[in-house]
Amino acid sequence: MSLRTSILLLLAATIPAVHSYINYANDFVNPNYVVSKNFSATTIPAQYTIQQWANASADGGPWSVTSKPYLAPSGDKHDYMSFGPYWWPNCTGVGNTTELSQQQIWTTCPYISKDGQFNPDARVVNNIGDFDSMSNAVLYNSLAWSIIGDSVYSSRVATFIKAWFLDPDTFMNPNLNYAQMQRGPDGQTGTHTGILDLKGMTKITSGVLALRAGKAAEWTSDLDGQFVDWLNKYIGWLTTANIALQEKNATNNHGSFYFNQLASLQLLVNDKSGAQTTIEEYFNGIYLGQIAANGDQPLETARTRPYHYRAYNLAAMITNARLGEYVGIIAWNKTTTAGTTIQSACDYAMTLPAGSEDPTELYPDIAAVASQYGDPNNKYRDFLVNATQSGYVADASFFWDQPFSDNGFAAALTKNDTIVSSGGGSSPSTGGTQGKSTSGVDPRSWRAWGMLYSACGIVMVASLFEFL
Ligand SMILES: *[C@@H]1O[C@H](CO)[C@@H](O)[C@H](O)[C@H]1NC(C)=O
Ligand SMILES: *[C@@H]1O[C@H](CO)[C@@H](O)[C@H](O)[C@H]1NC(C)=O
Ligand SMILES: *[C@@H]1O[C@H](CO)[C@@H](O)[C@H](O)[C@H]1NC(C)=O
Ligand SMILES: *[C@@H]1O[C@H](CO)[C@@H](O)[C@H](O)[C@H]1NC(C)=O
Ligand SMILES: *[C@@H]1O[C@H](CO)[C@@H](O)[C@H](O)[C@H]1NC(C)=O
Ligand SMILES: *[C@@H]1O[C@H](CO)[C@@H](O)[C@H](O)[C@H]1NC(C)=O
Ligand SMILES: *[C@@H]1O[C@H](CO)[C@@H](O)[C@H](O)[C@H]1NC(C)=O
Ligand SMILES: *[C@@H]1O[C@H](CO)[C@@H](O)[C@H](O)[C@H]1NC(C)=O
Repeated sequence: MSLRTSILLLLAATIPAVHSYINYANDFVNPNYVVSKNFSATTIPAQYTIQQWANASADGGPWSVTSKPYLAPSGDKHDYMSFGPYWWPNCTGVGNTTELSQQQIWTTCPYISKDGQFNPDARVVNNIGDFDSMSNAVLYNSLAWSIIGDSVYSSRVATFIKAWFLDPDTFMNPNLNYAQMQRGPDGQTGTHTGILDLKGMTKITSGVLALRAGKAAEWTSDLDGQFVDWLNKYIGWLTTANIALQEKNATNNHGSFYFNQLASLQLLVNDKSGAQTTIEEYFNGIYLGQIAANGDQPLETARTRPYHYRAYNLAAMITNARLGEYVGIIAWNKTTTAGTTIQSACDYAMTLPAGSEDPTELYPDIAAVASQYGDPNNKYRDFLVNATQSGYVADASFFWDQPFSDNGFAAALTKNDTIVSSGGGSSPSTGGTQGKSTSGVDPRSWRAWGMLYSACGIVMVASLFEFL
């Protein structure tokens, strides 16, 4: 293996991209709430976090599928490509007499699956990480624009969407024909697990719906129309391609996220009835088998990292319920075959220790469940107060996981803290009043929650690759 290849592999293996913002598994933020500007004062720390994360997530953008050192087997630079994370080459029987290049290995040596063992060279082509970065940047920058009205944020969103989907030189073809290829002579096409690569379409939907609802000047009708054209082509692929339909058939988190993605896209192209049908199909379909009588999610518990996978599918279920609520399909109390609800799954997951896994991944799910089902006995609040020293109120998700108790902590933070005015000249909004500036001391206390996540960046990023 060449020195360059060795260095690349070493880099990929040892330096994960640690983000200074949280990459939630998924979520849908209702644009009606965002555009209302009717935010509780307890969300001020979270509003400020969103502005910080908007800036942090914009670093490295714009992104494009064309930014990769190797082309997809089609030879078309506009084709999205990613590699299955657990597949490894076996070159023993190939009969080569000299060392093979990296690309020759990818096409010549048979690949075998080693479940749970991440092959670091899967990141040499990083369309998957770039799409994820882009979807986070679109979400946080759209929300930041909605909160503070500074066009620096909305301009970024327009730039990022154009670069990924539309610009003639950098656009992505509207399909995932080469996502999560297994590689080797028989692995030169995408597999169904690759559809999960684009689950961030729900974050993009949250962002773009917020810009539309707030009539952001940078989100022009021309841009909107071009984007909708692209999305309609991609929806056509997602609802007919064989690998896409296989993913829809998956009974675990893969299936749940497929419905997240499809319903979101239908909202973006203004197909409300399509989104309703999609969400009904989920809750009358695979959802029915996902939560056991005790609240366990057996298909996730069976995986290599059960704490992660329970939180992960819980996020997908919550996202489906939120998408449904937006189009009038109320599924929060929908019971599975075992008589359980999303709340049952959350309650059960909370009882289990994280072990060696990242415990924080469940926290946004808990806040979401509390905001939706209520928290009459302060069970969810007390859990998060204890687990985060009340830092959960400064998490971005606390902005939209409302109503939910802040345990009096946000007011103390807000009183003490200086909220730096953004370019728009107004501070984060409270109760519909913009332009109020608060003064005080030290924003560090409410950054603790974000730093907790940053410290777990390795786990968060690694989770991207457990897509099998
Ligand atoms: C604003 O939100 C509060 C709850 O947070 C709600 O009681 C009130 O009705 C809302 N006001 C408007 C105008 O929507
Ligand atoms: C985010 O970046 C903008 C533009 O550079 C700047 O005006 C703003 O103060 C930053 N916000 C935060 C919270 O860092
Ligand atoms: C690797 O390939 C050789 C030769 O084809 C084969 O004998 C061996 O079983 C393979 N190893 C694994 C782990 O599949
Ligand atoms: C065949 O290629 C593989 C992968 O580059 C390499 O590990 C192996 O040493 C090569 N075999 C010979 C005989 O050069
Ligand atoms: C989906 O599952 C159904 C029922 O098991 C099966 O008949 C169908 O062929 C599957 N579709 C795909 C694309 O795998
Ligand atoms: C769900 O059921 C509870 C009672 O079990 C009820 O209080 C609540 O209003 C229901 N929520 C919805 C959205 O139907
Ligand atoms: C608080 O958290 C600690 C460790 O994080 C845990 O051991 C303890 O049981 C928790 N207490 C409550 C009341 O949840
Ligand atoms: C706010 O300031 C007061 C007085 O300095 C201090 O006692 C309190 O702990 C501070 N609150 C927070 C959340 O830092």
